[in-house]
Amino acid sequence: MATQKALWLTKVGEPLTIGQNTIPEPGPGDILVKNESVSLNPMDWIFPKVGFYMMKNFPVVIGEEGAGVVVKLGEGVTNLAVGDRVYYATKFNFESDYAAFQEYTLISADIAGKLPANLSFDQGASICIGIAPFTAATYVPEPHGHGYTPPFESEGGVGKYKGHPILIMAGGASLGQYAIQLARLSGFSPIITTASLHNKDLLISLGATHVLDRKLSASQLKEEVANITSTPVMYAFDSISLDDTRQAAYDILAPGGKLTVVRRGSLKEVEGSGKGVVQAFGSFELPRVREFGGKFMRELDSWLAEGKIKPNRVEVLPGGLHGIAAGLERLESGAVSATKFIVRPQETV
Ligand SMILES: NC(=O)c1ccc[n+]([C@@H]2O[C@H](COP(=O)([O-])OP(=O)(O)OC[C@H]3O[C@@H](n4cnc5c(N)ncnc54)[C@H](OP(=O)(O)O)[C@@H]3O)[C@@H](O)[C@H]2O)c1
Repeated sequence: MATQKALWLTKVGEPLTIGQNTIPEPGPGDILVKNESVSLNPMDWIFPKVGFYMMKNFPVVIGEEGAGVVVKLGEGVTNLAVGDRVYYATKFNFESDYAAFQEYTLISADIAGKLPANLSFDQGASICIGIAPFTAATYVPEPHGHGYTPPFESEGGVGKYKGHPILIMAGGASLGQYAIQLARLSGFSPIITTASLHNKDLLISLGATHVLDRKLSASQLKEEVANITSTPVMYAFDSISLDDTRQAAYDILAPGGKLTVVRRGSLKEVEGSGKGVVQAFGSFELPRVREFGGKFMRELDSWLAEGKIKPNRVEVLPGGLHGIAAGLERLESGAVSATKFIVRPQETV
């Protein structure tokens, strides 16, 4: 059986090691992708360190996102062809054949993106994990999402929320940058975000109308938001969801407002306020979001081609898969600002 290089986690708490994995055959509905670029996400250092309830079998290959070329089609795949350039989030099932940190990965064809010619593989690998949480939480109907109309031409959602303020905590995060851009397509205004101020120009270029210093205290932030808009803030998306950012966003919301968090943690909710909180689950693999996810990905292909959605800024780490461990250490230490780390598995020696 043909083999490939892969990054293995032998057990929680152990260092990641490079070894061999077999190159799998795609089953029905799947494609085999030759990975040109994969990207690093916070969960790639968190799960190996502290574990995750879905991570049960070891050793396991990790990694959740990438871009590459379709090399084999499973039965029934009609939306993609061998040779197509694709970008993807993995199935997130913690089975090694479906993980990204290796040379070849099995992917679900129906929710993979077709990478437009104007984007590189490195850029393509920066998109799916970052864009899915806001998308799923904001546009999927209740109770799984907040039920806003998505900004698809066919559904009349483009610009629909003009005059509705939105607060996006941590606009500099990968998730935050995509949230800002989708909020812009949906028409939310003003789009208020928090970030390090050196990211102000970038976030304004993506669609933020106001970038506030992430170092402001919760009370200062509330005051600044009130100075920007007298319209009640009915929606907030917290891209980082630390205890303090989550609470600050919740407290700024008007009664009846909606908050999306991307990580669980403490939150003092006010009884009778009518405020609703949704925990984002940024994967289109789940049956309840799958059809919507496929439709969204087709729209996203076009938005990327037209430049309506821009990928994250990327930094390519040297050494192929060998570069991942050092990249994850940088992510863990917080030494990253509005940038996605990329590795090219085919460069592994
Ligand atoms: N629920 C889900 O489905 C899901 C999916 C993917 C990720 N996540 C989680 O979402 C979080 C963000 O992921 P990511 O990939 O977007 O992270 P990331 O890009 O690595 O986040 C780094 C950015 O966070 C910003 N930041 C950090 N602390 C901040 C604060 N207190 N206030 C404002 N900005 C702050 C920094 O912005 P500045 O540089 O401007 O300071 C930095 O650029 C992670 O916790 C991740 O595990 C959840």
